Amino acid sequence: NFTPNAFVDEIVAELKEKIGNDKVVLGLSGGVDSTVAAVLLNKAIGDNLYCIFVNNGLLRKKEFENVLHQYKDMGLNVKGVDAGDRFLGQLEGISDPETKRKTIGRVFIEVFDDEAHLLTDVKWLAQGTIYPDVIESVSVKGPSATIKSHHNVGGLPDFMKLKIVEPLRMLFKDEVRRVGKTLGIDPELLGRHPFPGPGLSIRILGDITKEKVRILQEVDAVFIDGLKSWGLYDKVWQAGAILLPVDSVGVMGDERTYEKVVALRAVESTDGMTADWVHLPYEFLMKVSNDIINKVKGVNRVVYDISSKPPATIEWE
Ligand code: XMP
Repeated sequence: NFTPNAFVDEIVAELKEKIGNDKVVLGLSGGVDSTVAAVLLNKAIGDNLYCIFVNNGLLRKKEFENVLHQYKDMGLNVKGVDAGDRFLGQLEGISDPETKRKTIGRVFIEVFDDEAHLLTDVKWLAQGTIYPDVIESVSVKGPSATIKSHHNVGGLPDFMKLKIVEPLRMLFKDEVRRVGKTLGIDPELLGRHPFPGPGLSIRILGDITKEKVRILQEVDAVFIDGLKSWGLYDKVWQAGAILLPVDSVGVMGDERTYEKVVALRAVESTDGMTADWVHLPYEFLMKVSNDIINKVKGVNRVVYDISSKPPATIEWE
């Protein structure tokens, strides 16, 4: 039986022993896993842990600013790197999902490497890899066609020559959350829905532009804030919005409009491997649809995704 307190004591002792006085660099994502990994390492080695939080321009609305602030409040030694334009520049004109993932993975490594080079004498790279990531990246390399190239596992260049430390690699998500709770991490941060590394790029079907990112950030914020204020956020495993690459006809006053369609997705799951769509109340869907269409310029239609995984996936790309 898993006991978070015992795990913390053991892993902190183990990290101290293993790392000694070496410096460690870690990329924070804003998610539960990298945050818990950082707090554990901070407990073990203090400011010898150098955290880097990169804005890839594809995070949720205001997420970079808010989360960076939160990390600093937690006492982490963290540097925020705003590389949004660099990522969006490299993504220009790319529509293929796997190419998007690979591009983001590559630019992330470049940005991260630039930052890591500014630090001297770093010996270790820490990652928030959890057990299901380990399993899935093994299966991706198997004989069946590539399912998805999770850029956060094992994708770092050799020239960095850093030793890898992954304090959560034996844990499942719920165990990571329990460890986080024991460590006193803000319950709101621990309860955050999973969010893919490539961020909103894989929820913008087709090519990515700044304007599309803006639209999707606005839509996503209305949806997620709505889930929170209706007390539904914690009942859902993961939720988000998808910007479709089609325009549909609408009316506004006497005018016909020709604007974007967005899909809302909310799923129940335990590990992301299988998922069921959530039966959100009609009243909620009605309210959120009205709010999105009224508040977000450029959107005139909202649809709800009622597909489960399998055979669909959680993300659309
Ligand atoms: P799918 O769409 O495969 O998603 O049903 C399962 C879970 O994985 C997340 N996901 C990703 N996470 N990099 C990530 O870090 C990715 O490229 C990626 N693709 C999907 C997805 O959000 C869901 O939680």
